[in-house]
Amino acid sequence: MTSESRAEVSRIRVWDAPTRLFHWSFAAAFAAAWASGESDRWRDVHVFAGYLILGLLAFRLLWGVAGSRHARFASFAFTWREARDYGLRALSRNAPRFVGHNPAGAWAIFAMLALAAVVSVSGILVLGGEEQQGALSGWGRIATGAMVKELHDGGASLWLLLICVHVGGVVWESLAHRENLARSMVTGYKQGPAAEAAPSFRWFSALALAAAIAAFAHWYFEGYEDRAPGRTYLPFIGRALPQSAAWNAECGSCHLAFHPSLLPARSWQALFAGQDKHFGEVLGLDGATTAELLGFATKTSADAGLSEASFKIARSVPEREAPVRITETGYWKKKHAAIPEATWRRPKVGSRANCAACHLDAERGAFEDAAMHIPD
Ligand code: HEC
Ligand code: HEC
Repeated sequence: MTSESRAEVSRIRVWDAPTRLFHWSFAAAFAAAWASGESDRWRDVHVFAGYLILGLLAFRLLWGVAGSRHARFASFAFTWREARDYGLRALSRNAPRFVGHNPAGAWAIFAMLALAAVVSVSGILVLGGEEQQGALSGWGRIATGAMVKELHDGGASLWLLLICVHVGGVVWESLAHRENLARSMVTGYKQGPAAEAAPSFRWFSALALAAAIAAFAHWYFEGYEDRAPGRTYLPFIGRALPQSAAWNAECGSCHLAFHPSLLPARSWQALFAGQDKHFGEVLGLDGATTAELLGFATKTSADAGLSEASFKIARSVPEREAPVRITETGYWKKKHAAIPEATWRRPKVGSRANCAACHLDAERGAFEDAAMHIPD
């Protein structure tokens, strides 16, 4: 497998088409996930890239067994000792040449695949816990999701570091053996003895993989124009919380029917107790209606922690206080402190209580950052 004599080498097939498609889609998905990771505005793209990475990983595991010669894990299952020896020899510039993956590269690949699993699965756990959305929506509490996020972020940084090592190794190898390894991952061909050639490029499997990626993207982004007319970003609309028709009818006629998850249960009790003096209005609800509304409000109040916003609002209100304004809770004030007074007076806003002017998902009670948009 190593240092063949120059005379007998020719241009041979090495990387089959599915392996190459996997490699570049995986790299692109990582780049997209990394670039969209910080901003909540691009949360949807980030989540898409994460699911794509998990799907590609599953494909690669399958292909590590069912793929052609050099794609199979068995063809590059080197021991740690072999990898280390190879690395040391490469540094002193006398490493043998491998047609398929070399031992050091092989270890980097297995480590990157393992990290891909850790980062994508933890990402789905963060989404399901912290945001209560996605494939594992509601698997755990919001605080647990926040803890898993540390693992997600740490894994992603380590993965980026490995990518740098991998790219460095590719450049080093390419120079040492005077062959462009990145290009061979595009064309599939390398110089080598005919006996080591892969029998075919497996085009049909590559086509099936490409079709699966395209179908997933289509399914995921379908209907975005309707959800985001005239916007420059994809709003990430929050999960729908439990709704009550009676609540929406009784409390939605003068203003947005503020979702009960935005105040603790004791605040709702105070609000209904003072319904004769409701910000200058008299609500005048009969006993049965009051009981029904209060029952719904208590069940879905901020104490239940149904959304990230409600969890944080509940945490920001001291036990002995029962504010009847959402806009007076610590979390709300902190989140809106940077908005200048003039913005609140804009015709399309008018009041701090006009949540829906800036939050596309206010009616759902979700308040995702990425669904926030201050009108001009
Ligand atoms: C007759 C009109 C009317 C109805 C019906 C009504 N409200 Fe209000 N509500 C108001 C007014 C006026 C304000 C003050 C708005 C402002 O400050 O801009 C207000 C404010 C509020 C606020 C405080 C918003 C903030 O600043 O955080 C809450 C909470 C609220 N209402 C809950 C309810 C609930 C729950 C119901 C149904 C039981 C209800 N309202 C029904 C008129 C109404
Ligand atoms: C003038 C526009 C505007 C209005 C009106 C408004 N908000 Fe906001 N809201 C914002 C902005 C801007 C942010 C900050 C987003 C950020 O931190 O990047 C925000 C953030 C939030 C957040 C935090 C979201 C998160 O996950 O970090 C919550 C919850 C929220 N608003 C709830 C409300 C509620 C409830 C109302 C109505 C009582 C309201 N907002 C009214 C503009 C507005």
